[in-house]
Amino acid sequence: TTNQSWGGRFSEPTDAFVARFTASVDFDRRLALHDIQGSRAHATMLARVGVLSEEERDAILGGLDEVQAEIEAGTFEWSVALEDVHMNIEARLTEKIGITGKKLHTGRSRNDQVATDIRLFLRDEIDTVAAELTRLREGLIELADREAETIMPGFTHLQTAQPVTFGHHLLAWQEMLARDQERLLDCRKRVNVLPLGAAALAGTTYPIDRHVTAELLGFDRPAENSLDAVSDRDFAIEFTAFASTLLMHLSRMSEELVLWTSAQFDFIDLPDRFCTGSSIMPQKKNPDVPELVRGKTGRVYGHLMGLLTLMKSQPLAYNKDNQEDKEPLFDALTTVQDCLKAFADMVPAIEAKADNMREAARKGFSTATDLADYLVCRGVAFRDAHEIVGQSVAYGLAEGKDLSDMSLEELRRFSDVIEQDVFEVLTLEGSVAARNHIGGTAPDQVRAAAQRAREALAAL
Ligand code: ARG
Repeated sequence: TTNQSWGGRFSEPTDAFVARFTASVDFDRRLALHDIQGSRAHATMLARVGVLSEEERDAILGGLDEVQAEIEAGTFEWSVALEDVHMNIEARLTEKIGITGKKLHTGRSRNDQVATDIRLFLRDEIDTVAAELTRLREGLIELADREAETIMPGFTHLQTAQPVTFGHHLLAWQEMLARDQERLLDCRKRVNVLPLGAAALAGTTYPIDRHVTAELLGFDRPAENSLDAVSDRDFAIEFTAFASTLLMHLSRMSEELVLWTSAQFDFIDLPDRFCTGSSIMPQKKNPDVPELVRGKTGRVYGHLMGLLTLMKSQPLAYNKDNQEDKEPLFDALTTVQDCLKAFADMVPAIEAKADNMREAARKGFSTATDLADYLVCRGVAFRDAHEIVGQSVAYGLAEGKDLSDMSLEELRRFSDVIEQDVFEVLTLEGSVAARNHIGGTAPDQVRAAAQRAREALAAL
């Protein structure tokens, strides 16, 4: 026998390297408070069904309070020899309250314990992420409302396509995030299920009441199957898939912010506090925050692949492989929270350079489609209208003129149905205002969409 908690059947101590190699306390101590939360509920349930006496329960709860206070004060001494967060806490509890501490693990295994801890932990983190996502969406909606009339070029293939309003563009971002938030809240439902009671894999012989434990911990229900309860980590994969999709979106936004702050676009300004300089080029102001968000996307994708691969060949039920679920999940969480905070702080501070945006929209024949539509309204078939406008654009390119710079006479060379009123549709304002239906870029539609987005957020 060795002095380990499972040492009874062993005849020699663990190899020193193996002890370090198999230990997880250096990272799973991040679960400490949720481990204690789970243990409180377990002890309370055990007393309710008569497996523990009320005195034993009270001793355990009192001891757990003291252990928690030590952890919060930073005075708790974590020991790698005790392997993981669960055994560290249990050992300290037993040091404090004696043999009763050893009764806490009745009817429980570290397998259902760790699955419970991760779910409790992740549920709290999901709520924090959701609140930050809400803050970012609110910032986008308010900025969009303010910039409902600001005109910029809309792009396809990163070539000038048609004028849009900046508010409309910002609300496109908001829509992406709204779907991400839905995905997150949907994932939370599957996180919020109680593994405890599954014990090692088959359940336990004690007369436990898993509904009590579930209710004490705020879980919707006990997990249906004990084998699945200890081995399932798809809730963590699902969270990481959400995180990957969110980061993919934040990365696209970052890419646009980086482009827009360049001297060549010059559409927006980011306040200095979100940028850094160059140690060699004195003129530089670099958009480091969006660049870094774009860069951090890769590690979150990596964690998703890592978790999927971790799970793909595991036979039921628990395997030690599962210990490898924590670091990717923790890092995905930290990354998502940092990136969301960066964006939620930065978005309300974006300053639109409306004159530059407008000037850019004027270039590149962005109202060519409007001219074609104008011709169609005057009886020209769309394909012919397309050809006529194509010829006017070719002429404009040769002469260095935008469509709206041409005289009526010049325009009429291409079609005699064109009259003076053509200039109403060739203006940028006329172009965006004409797209006046739900989902369109007209300023009135942007303001209405912002209002609907506010209401959708309030209803969450
Ligand atoms: N540290 C382990 C983990 O993270 C806890 C469960 C260990 N269970 C076991 N039977 N070794 O998965």
